[in-house]
Amino acid sequence: MKIENMEELFMAEIEDLYDGEKRLTKALPKMAKASTSPQLKQAFESHLQETQGHVQRLERVFSEMGKPPKSETCEAIKGLIEEGEKMISDTDASPLRDAGIIAAANRVEHYEIAAYGSARTFAQILGLTSAVSLLEQTLEEEKMADKKLTQLAESMINNEALRTAPVHHR
Ligand SMILES: [Fe+2]
Ligand SMILES: [Fe+2]
Repeated sequence: MKIENMEELFMAEIEDLYDGEKRLTKALPKMAKASTSPQLKQAFESHLQETQGHVQRLERVFSEMGKPPKSETCEAIKGLIEEGEKMISDTDASPLRDAGIIAAANRVEHYEIAAYGSARTFAQILGLTSAVSLLEQTLEEEKMADKKLTQLAESMINNEALRTAPVHHR
């Protein structure tokens, strides 16, 4: 269906996010299970809780707009999740895998930050005050999740990964 005005464009963004967030509620437990670092496991488990809240906030946005929740396949999140799964199958359970999972998960958070930023800005110019506030709350949690993952990588996991196996120099 053709998008013909700003409200339809806004709803298209929300439908894309709704699909992505629902996929992430299924992917995050797998990322937590595959992680070897207890701190990383914990970070994924706590972001899973937040992600369930993100789904609910989007359902509130649908309801504020007087529409039933609708998903439009988010090819980007789908693809990023597949890359995360490939990272798990390409590595043994080790800090090396943890470092790879973080690199995959940071990509997801950056996508979400971009998408929620645009959706929030669209809601602002449409005068959808309550949607702005719901989307901003989620946007802040995505930024915090991204920072947390980066901090785990840079403070600890990347160095452990470096020691996981000797580097082959030629
Ligand atoms: Fe999210
Ligand atoms: Fe997220």
